[in-house]
Amino acid sequence: MTANHESFTPSPGGPQVAPAAVAPERLTPELLNEMAARRQPICMLTCYDFLSAQILDAQGVDVLLVGDSVATTLLGLASTRLVPLSFMVEITAAVARGARRSMVMGDMPYGSYDLPAAALDNARRLMDAGAACIKFEISSEQVPVVAHLSAAGVNVCAHLGLLPQRVATAGGYRVHGRQTAEADEIVELARQCRAAGARLILLEAVPAAVSERVMEAVDCPVIGCGAGRGCHGHVVVLTDLLGFNPKPPRFVPVLSDGTSPLRAAAAQYVKAIKSRTYPGPEHEYK
Ligand code: KIV
Repeated sequence: MTANHESFTPSPGGPQVAPAAVAPERLTPELLNEMAARRQPICMLTCYDFLSAQILDAQGVDVLLVGDSVATTLLGLASTRLVPLSFMVEITAAVARGARRSMVMGDMPYGSYDLPAAALDNARRLMDAGAACIKFEISSEQVPVVAHLSAAGVNVCAHLGLLPQRVATAGGYRVHGRQTAEADEIVELARQCRAAGARLILLEAVPAAVSERVMEAVDCPVIGCGAGRGCHGHVVVLTDLLGFNPKPPRFVPVLSDGTSPLRAAAAQYVKAIKSRTYPGPEHEYK
């Protein structure tokens, strides 16, 4: 028996969100600079797929970070170190296909930015996939990489403070910069990254007072991820925001109970099949 495709409704693969009549202006590092100068808060969220990108973009999220946190949040891996560049390239492309106004930020996975020349090749793969800005985790060895990429025209976001790719060797998931020496180091690294051409600074898990010092030391937008109220913008991990993490960091606003609708729909589906109430005649092709 052949299926009757005339009445077939394709499963959602096309745009889920009605396109705006006039394409909105795509955000760029220059526009983020202007927002920061006007003290207009910059809203950034992680995003790992096309469907979420469409939704977050339409809701006005300024920057979609295709973060390597995908490793632990969605792939079930034990560390963000375990996600390969090829995967990051694929999901960056998916997010870019869903974003119209939001700026897409790619994230360099562990081992992809140790040496300047290789880092540039790898950053270009993420840019070819649609990233307008490239983030990577910074210690003093990465400052020449920031300089090399910036000189080649890459918009670099320097990630400082808590560096998830290095938690195993840096005392685990903890606040960075509570001690004066560590705070001074973060401020100095931010200054060096900006001098090397970084367009954005991202501070993860640092005290508000350290963020204030960084903001005084650099003339580019500073995005906080648990870095206090004063930053120009803020980012959290989408699955934390949605309530999928049973132990979210304390700075995350948990704004949804993401697991309940999924659980309820799955339970209803299982029940419907087991009880033979689904499929019904209305689900059959004529
Ligand atoms: O990969 C990521 O999601 C990040 C955020 C935690 C800033 O780097």
